[in-house]
Amino acid sequence: MEKNEFLAELGNLEEEALRAISSSGTLDELENARIKFLGSKGGLNEFSKKMGTLKKEDRPETGRVLNEARGKITSSFSERASLLKEEAEEKEQIDVTLPGRRRKMGSRHLIPKTSAEICSIFERMGFTITEGPEVETDYYNFEALNFPPDHPSRDMQQSLFVGDGLLLRTHTSCVQIRTMEKKKPPVWIVVPGKTYRRDDDLTHSPMFNQIEGLAVDKNITMADLKGVLKSFVEEFFSPRTRIRLRPSFFPFTEPSAEVDIGCVICGGKGCRICKGTGWLEVLGCGMVNPVLYDFVGYDPEEVSGFAFGIGVDRMAMLKYNLDNISRFYSGDARFLRQFP
Ligand code: PHE
Repeated sequence: MEKNEFLAELGNLEEEALRAISSSGTLDELENARIKFLGSKGGLNEFSKKMGTLKKEDRPETGRVLNEARGKITSSFSERASLLKEEAEEKEQIDVTLPGRRRKMGSRHLIPKTSAEICSIFERMGFTITEGPEVETDYYNFEALNFPPDHPSRDMQQSLFVGDGLLLRTHTSCVQIRTMEKKKPPVWIVVPGKTYRRDDDLTHSPMFNQIEGLAVDKNITMADLKGVLKSFVEEFFSPRTRIRLRPSFFPFTEPSAEVDIGCVICGGKGCRICKGTGWLEVLGCGMVNPVLYDFVGYDPEEVSGFAFGIGVDRMAMLKYNLDNISRFYSGDARFLRQFP
């Protein structure tokens, strides 16, 4: 074969191959072009074989041209291949005809939701939210709150001890002391948090939630306490909610009271929930016992205060009319979904 003829045919093949590659619209078409021009029985290999028919002195030049052609075709092939692959992947990712996937909306659990709602009512009355540890010392849970050692009132608390003189706090009242220790009056705080007692039935769970309230300022009286609580229940339940205070006992308040509200289930007529009385006990409260001021260095001649402790779980059960506290903690999504 003549050198010029060889080069001319090679040039045509190269052109044809490059055109076939750049006009391939799919990876299949491109593969066919590869087999046709670069495959073992493909066009370029034919030229390698034809080299043998050339004159010896023409072979170096034609060999170089053949290698160049192979290089060009190969790189054009791989460029096209990666472009087509990219396009194919993009098409796979965005199928605009598919219906959108709806994400299920989560919602807040009733307990933190109720706790936040209660706190925000008190915040609007000027209280500030603060917190304290759940593992407490005997000092903050009992001693500084005027529980004498070995006094039977400690028994009522059904404490869960964790060793080393520590216990899971039985109430949020510990944070009264922790706050007064750190801050001079006036103090207006609410303290949401988990609390723990050895107690487990339809209306009690070993872990439950309280919101402590504490106000210590000049000239605070029991009327302030009652007014604050009345505003709270009116806002939380309904403007017609009645309250009454019954004498009670807590070592850290004097006098102490238990607060009842008119039954929100039957409206006061008497039902199963209020055990026929028309009243529901919802929280404990009282005037801060001045002996606490000795523990924290306040002057009882200068200041006075009130405190209260709200059971969040009970509030939520009443508001949403639930009869079993364990619903809150069983993690049953079907229950939780009812309160979006
Ligand atoms: N700490 C009390 C309890 O858990 C409630 C309470 C708080 C009572 C503040 C009076 C004042 O039962």
